Amino acid sequence: MKVTVVGAGAVGATCADNIARKELASELVLLDIKEGVAEGKAIDMMQTAALLGFDTKIKGVTNDYAATEHSDVVVITSGLPRKPGMTREELIGVNAGIVKSVTENILKYSPDTILIVVSNPMDTMNYLTLQTSGLPKNRVLGMGGALDSARFRYYLSQELGCSPADLNAVVVGGHGDTTMIPLIRHATWNSTPVTNFLTKEQQDKIVAATMVGGATLTKLIGTSAWYAPGAGTAAMVESILRDEKKLISCGVALEGEYGQQDISLVVPVILGRNGWERIIDFKLSDEEQAAFNKSADAVRNMNDVLKTL
Ligand code: 2OP
Repeated sequence: MKVTVVGAGAVGATCADNIARKELASELVLLDIKEGVAEGKAIDMMQTAALLGFDTKIKGVTNDYAATEHSDVVVITSGLPRKPGMTREELIGVNAGIVKSVTENILKYSPDTILIVVSNPMDTMNYLTLQTSGLPKNRVLGMGGALDSARFRYYLSQELGCSPADLNAVVVGGHGDTTMIPLIRHATWNSTPVTNFLTKEQQDKIVAATMVGGATLTKLIGTSAWYAPGAGTAAMVESILRDEKKLISCGVALEGEYGQQDISLVVPVILGRNGWERIIDFKLSDEEQAAFNKSADAVRNMNDVLKTL
């Protein structure tokens, strides 16, 4: 199996590191526009192979798309990350051009690949990629939900004093501070609803913290986070390449599911060798559906900005 990660910044490099450590691919290409950066990080990672015992061959290249030929999965992390105080949406103007040209270049060498879009604003960048690539909808995925659901499980585990691994919880909607919807009513702690153990006040606190999870870290670190975004993306790559059929929240094209169409939004899907294979209907309550529709309106407004660029 071959995977390409475009963008050797913190998220791209962490994603590549996770993929190599887990030997999800035999070949891994790290591509960046900045001369030498991908090459350097690839060599640095390869020098951990003897210590960590993995056999993935990592190759770094500067803008050499020919090296990405025949990739089974391509992760696109290119573009600017946000700075403290910035919303993901403010990045649209710059990142749209970058993501579009990366997609076109990738498809010249891997026309049937599966694309995972990490660049922000993720919902709009994934919508753009769906349009630009012309790939079947199942082969284009946005990353936000995998990350936001992991953050949701973290905040739940902190409040419950339990292991995040014992929690099932998903976020749907958009990958934005005001558009994501952590579905707390559906979250369970080893099959028991978490709402049995938490007051309304605690639940509200967890939901609010999850929604601004990325912004909280941007403020602390001074730039966008990378460990969880990198690991969330690698978890998607793993379910795809190993055909695990894991249920992971991802940004996908909706055609009537969850009452929406002509949009990419985050919903729970089954991830396997063909990309996302099935959307799972979580049967939202009227209140949850209203929040989902509101997120769709906000994301649609953002998608409209693409027409003005
Ligand atoms: C985040 O939420 C990278 O958007 C990403 O940290």
